[in-house]
Amino acid sequence: CVADPASMVIFGITGDLARKKLVPAIYDLAHDGELPTDFDLVGFARDVDGIESILRDSVILHARTSFDPAVWELLVERIHVVQGSFENAASFAELGSRLAELDAQRGKPGNYVFYLSVPPRSFALVCDQLAICGLNRGSYGWRRVVIEKPFGHDLVSSQALEIALARVFRPSSIYRIDHYLGKEMVQNVLALRFANGMFEPLWNNRHIDHVQITMAESVGVSGRAGYYDGVGAARDVIQNHLLQILSLIAMEEPVSFDADGIAAEKIKVLSATELIGPLAETSSRGQYSAGFVNGLSVGGLAAETGFPSDSATETFAALTVGVATRRWAGVPFFIRTGKRLARRTTQIAVTFTPPAHRASIARSGAAPNVLIFRVQPDDGIELHIGAKSPGGGMHIQPVSLGTDFRSVFDEAPEAHERLIRDVLCGDATLFPRREEVETSWRIIDPLLAHWANLGRPDNYPSGSSGPSSSDRVMSRTSRAWRSL
Ligand code: BG6
Repeated sequence: CVADPASMVIFGITGDLARKKLVPAIYDLAHDGELPTDFDLVGFARDVDGIESILRDSVILHARTSFDPAVWELLVERIHVVQGSFENAASFAELGSRLAELDAQRGKPGNYVFYLSVPPRSFALVCDQLAICGLNRGSYGWRRVVIEKPFGHDLVSSQALEIALARVFRPSSIYRIDHYLGKEMVQNVLALRFANGMFEPLWNNRHIDHVQITMAESVGVSGRAGYYDGVGAARDVIQNHLLQILSLIAMEEPVSFDADGIAAEKIKVLSATELIGPLAETSSRGQYSAGFVNGLSVGGLAAETGFPSDSATETFAALTVGVATRRWAGVPFFIRTGKRLARRTTQIAVTFTPPAHRASIARSGAAPNVLIFRVQPDDGIELHIGAKSPGGGMHIQPVSLGTDFRSVFDEAPEAHERLIRDVLCGDATLFPRREEVETSWRIIDPLLAHWANLGRPDNYPSGSSGPSSSDRVMSRTSRAWRSL
């Protein structure tokens, strides 16, 4: 795609997300020559002291590409700062003047991206201030607003947020970022399914026994209490990242692989997705306690700064959903995520049904075929099949056919690089639409309500694979989680 010249305003440029992901991604784009020539970055923050060195350090620490002082010097010339607060209309007037100056220097009409890297409670305020200054619409150039999840706290608050956004921006100008959609392996789900002939005929309840979607992290939530406490694992990543992955696994082939075509199918499949109950048995929730991760002793959630000792926030969540369509009736989708687990891995495992009439050959040690999308780390694809082990007799042993994408392809851009570029190009294919977000809340809201009536989540030691209640989610169906 061709990225238009533009000014990108990042609200909250000194915040965690901007320092760890956004500014490094912009540096990487600059490094790879992927930024439009007329690009300016305007950082809006309350405190801008020492901002240049803060951003430089964030690039050195978090950029994908190596730090090149020459690239940084060129980029710094294009970084501008407006000090201000979201409450102060004068700060937004100053922002407007700064943008107008940049337009004048370029001698080109202004295209503006407003990136709201701010707490969700500030979304509506920032949008209203932009509207008061008339920055949300222009008689020339385009306006785009980017918001980061969580898009609300539940269905009702998400609808309120959408109403606030819609007052200010046209629907086609709103880009909801779900950075998992920018990951190469997540996009590969569609490639594998629809660019190959051999999987789609098997992609249904006659041949698939169940699907497991796992997002395990070894990190905890230190430093993120302000955001995470009261949010928890289900709202943080299941409502968005993992239900988006589910929609790609389960959707029908779109009429076209563009934004409208893909969104239409995702909305259909999410609308058919529902929790499988009884929730006390089919879901699990946990909170990490002290333990060992990678050999290091770590404390529990209560020891993290900012979390109350009686916090009921879950850092682990597992649930079971079904997709009520002819293709998927009867196939459970098991989803789990957790912090401070034994290791970091995100994977999608599709387990196939064993042959209906097992010949004696398949009885001796055969395991089901499993297709695994390794989203991260070590992105790649694995297919587990049964093969004869060497020697006398006919003993079947599972073996893995696979591809490690890093050994085949060049290094992939980080998700935020891809998505920021797509915003500059006006390509919304990888951005969830309002209906997807709201349908996802509709799916998990009953679970959140169920948990709200319970006491505290189960404990699990840091470095484990989650609470024992999570194993029961699987064992009640005579299945087991794949080991982490
Ligand atoms: C974010 C969540 O959306 O994704 C974080 O808010 C989580 O809690 C992060 O750690 C994981 O992203 P990635 O790309 O490192 O898997």
